[in-house]
Formats: sequence, C-alpha cells, structure tokens
Amino acid sequence: MEQFLEFAGIGKSFPGVRALNDISFRVQRGKVLALLGENGAGKSTLLKIMSGDLKADEGTITLDGKEMNFNSPNDAIKAGISVIYQERQLIPSLSVAENIFPGELPRNKIGLLDRPQLKRQTQELIDKFGLSIDPSVPVGSLSVAYQQMVEIIKAYRRNSDVIAFDEPTAPLTDTEITILFNLIRQLKEEGKMILYVSHRLNEIFQVTDEIVVLKDGQLVATLKTAETTEADLIHSMVGRDIGDTYSSLSRNDKIGDVLLEVTNLATPYVSDISFKLHKGEIVGFAGLVGAGRSEVMRGIFGADPVLAGEVKLNGEIVNFKSPKDAIDAGIALCPEDRKEQGLVLFSSIKNNVSAPVIDKLSNSIFRNPKLEEEIAQAAIDKFSIKTPNSEKMCLELSGGNQQKVILGRWTSPLVTTNILILDEPTKGIDVGTKQEIYQMVCDFAKQGMGVIFVSSEMPEVIGVSDTIIVMHNGHITGTTTRADNPTEESVLAMAMLD
Ligand SMILES: Nc1ncnc2c1ncn2[C@@H]1O[C@H](COP(=O)(O)OP(=O)(O)OP(=O)(O)O)[C@@H](O)[C@H]1O
Ligand SMILES: [Mg+2]
Repeated sequence: MEQFLEFAGIGKSFPGVRALNDISFRVQRGKVLALLGENGAGKSTLLKIMSGDLKADEGTITLDGKEMNFNSPNDAIKAGISVIYQERQLIPSLSVAENIFPGELPRNKIGLLDRPQLKRQTQELIDKFGLSIDPSVPVGSLSVAYQQMVEIIKAYRRNSDVIAFDEPTAPLTDTEITILFNLIRQLKEEGKMILYVSHRLNEIFQVTDEIVVLKDGQLVATLKTAETTEADLIHSMVGRDIGDTYSSLSRNDKIGDVLLEVTNLATPYVSDISFKLHKGEIVGFAGLVGAGRSEVMRGIFGADPVLAGEVKLNGEIVNFKSPKDAIDAGIALCPEDRKEQGLVLFSSIKNNVSAPVIDKLSNSIFRNPKLEEEIAQAAIDKFSIKTPNSEKMCLELSGGNQQKVILGRWTSPLVTTNILILDEPTKGIDVGTKQEIYQMVCDFAKQGMGVIFVSSEMPEVIGVSDTIIVMHNGHITGTTTRADNPTEESVLAMAMLD
C-alpha cells in the first residue's frame, strides 16, 4: 500500500489573489518536509486546506492511498491530521490533562470523571516525551512553549499520522527550540509525516529531510535538505541572490549627540536600567525570550508605570505617563505582538497605516483620501506588502505581511519620529524582506534618528546594531559595541549572566 501524504494539483484563489496554483508533492512516512517561501507565498493556506479550515478550489489530498475530503477541522483530525498553529488552540482554564483528552475523559464506574486515571494517562504521555509538565495545572498557567508541547502531545494522543507546524519557534527560547526539535525527531522515528514552516533557515537544516519552496502560490523547487545550501534556498525563494546580509549594509558613520538617556529606570517588570541612545545610533537589545526587553520599551514609552529612575529626552526629564505623550514627543514603538498591541485586523491596510497620523490627514471636516492612499501605497511599496490594493483587510493578509503593515505605520512619511523603537520587527518576515528592513533601519539612523532594535535573533542584533545591550531576568547584564566584534557566543554568555 502507498504510505505517504500526497498533494495533487491543489489550487486556491481569494479575491484578487491566486494563493495556490497546481501544487503537487509528497511527504513520506518518517520524514520532515519544510514548506518554505516568502511572505504570502501560500504556506499557511496550504496547511489550512490540509486541516479542513479552508476548501481547495482544485486538487486532492491523499493519505496512504485514501483521498481526503474535509468539510471541517474535525474531519481532518479524525483522518489523522493535526496542524499546530502559533495561536494556541487550547482552553486555558482547563488542566493539561483535560486539554489532552477533550470530550473523551475517562469515567469511573458511576460515570464520574476518573481524575486519577486521567492524570495517570496524561503522565504516561508526558513521560514518553521526557517532559516535565504537571498534568493537573491549568494550561493557561504554562509558558507559551509548554502550551505548544501540550498541543503536540494532544495531536500525538489523537493518533495523528500527519503533524504540521506553522512557524512554531517564533515565541520560543533556544532551549525550548531544542526540546521541540527532539519531540519532532521522536515523532519522525515513529513514522509520522511532518510538515514544517519557518522563516529561519538554520532550523530547516537542523530538522528537515526535504524542502518544498513556494513562490507566489507556485511550487518552484523540491529539494533534499542534505543536498542543499542556504544560498540555494534563498535563491529559489527570493528569485535572486542577496549577498552577505550584514557586510553589504550601508551604515551611518556620524553618530551625534545624546538623544535619549535612561537612568536607573524601574517598572514592575525591570530594574536598574541605564543606557544612552545617540542621534544616528542603532542600539540593539539582545537577550533570551522573557529577559525583559519589551518591558523596558514599554516603560520608556509610557505604557507601563515607571516606579523609579528617569527618562531624559534631549536633556530634559520626560518620564511619559502614557504612550500618547511619548508619541507626541516623537517616539514611535513598533510592538512585538502585532495582534494585541498593534494591528486592527478588521480594518484595511490603509486605515491601519494612517492611524497615527489621522489628524494630519484631515482638516477640521474633510479627510484627504488622496494623501491617505499615497502613504498606504508608500508602505506597500517600501515593504513589498503582498496585496491587490490598500483596501484589503489586515485579517486577510499572511502573517508576515501583517507585520509589514505595522512597520509601514510607524515609518510613514507623515510620522515625525526622533526615536524609533522596533521590538522584534523581523518576526515572521522572509529573508529577502529582512534584508530590506535592516537597510531601512540603517537609513533611519543616517537621517539622524535614534533607533532601538530589540531582537531575539542574535545574528541580526549583532549584525545591525552599533551598540548592543544584553539583558537577563529584568536587568542589563552587559554592553558591547560593534568595534568589539561581538560574536553570538560572547553575547549569549552575557545573556546568561545574573
Ligand atoms: N482569508 C483570506 N482572504 C483573502 N486573502 C487571503 C486569505 N488568506 C490568505 N490570503 C492571501 O493568500 C496569499 C497567501 O497567504 P498565506 O497566509 O498562505 O501566506 P504564507 O506563505 O503563510 O505567508 P507568511 O510567511 O507571511 O505567513 C496572500 O496573498 C494572502 O493575502
Ligand atoms: Mg503564514
């Protein structure tokens, strides 16, 4: 019998977009296949078709010789297919065990929930994967990483033959990524078929066997990971070589006066934060996920209360009480979590981009639709946002393209910014656009802005910043500059200090 998952001639259109066109490939048992491609290439759409969330316009999916026809996500689950998305699909108030055994909880003789047995069965699964999770705690009390592990165990428990991951590592620390990869290897040894989507190419080489590259909804390459180089991958994804990412950046060489000076800042989450940002300087904040970098930014921006210390802008103490005060003083913050803090998903690209400058776009009565369209179009061009037009709802954009809309909002021509704070700006962004974002950050510095660049990806924080501040556990544990030639190892060592 045929033992693989097969996509044959899959096609899918949305209004104005051919998201997938004639996609055909196979995933063998015991193999991990990477789905790679630029933002908007069609990766998530393909997974959504496979999980019964969307219906294909054309084509078939066959599992072990049997054609799959899904009308709902439940049909896919029953057929042995699980997709693990970044947005968790667990119920936070229920325990780990109840999430892993939904609807099929073990009952005792008189029909009541058999808690000891539920706990035992869950513990067996947890042990099998060598994890340390307490089956009885509510899922909502676990870290994002552990929630993801609970989802994997849940998929495993449902006897899923196919398990797909859509950008699973974005919220994870390095240690957690190692645990995830060990889980994936275990699933692979058991003969599962695994699909893996990520923009981090080093992960592709660590954990996958084969690679399918999508570009604008077309399949452009099917490769064996062992026979491929990073340069090959970038070439087939982007359609051109992008050269050495960091050495080819055109940087600012004139760093000016102190713009922002933070002294002994404390908020409920961080303490004793002191650093300076000069005109034309890029200050990077490195550290492990959870080190407190976003919290420092929130404190500076007036989004979290300042308990002690001071924030000086051009020599004057400002200590902003609200983000509005910070914005009025010329500070822009691109937040890390686009859904919670940035983007209005049910609104168009145009409305999202013009949100911070809306009063500049209108006189007392009339808005200026032409100017509004121009600044939206500028953002679409600058970040190559993949969309038929500026009216498209952000909800309908791919993940990476939503991130680009946020960047477009804070870098629009009408926003007068002296200090730009970018918190994980390249999360979910494809390699080609990442390069453009790095150059843009350098260009802002050239214009005399001070830029704060927060990132958990060591290579980019080292490659882009003039000064690198390293944090751990809510305080600064080290500072280094580009002149010191920092390496990933040297920065990581500081990130582990107490
Ligand atoms: N519900 C929808 N309505 C309209 N268009 C959509 C919808 N979902 C996706 N699209 C479009 O389909 C195309 C493919 O999107 P998809 O989310 O599959 O990309 P992706 O490869 O996952 O990108 P990313 O790396 O940014 O996550 C994009 O042009 C997107 O705007
Ligand atoms: Mg996607």
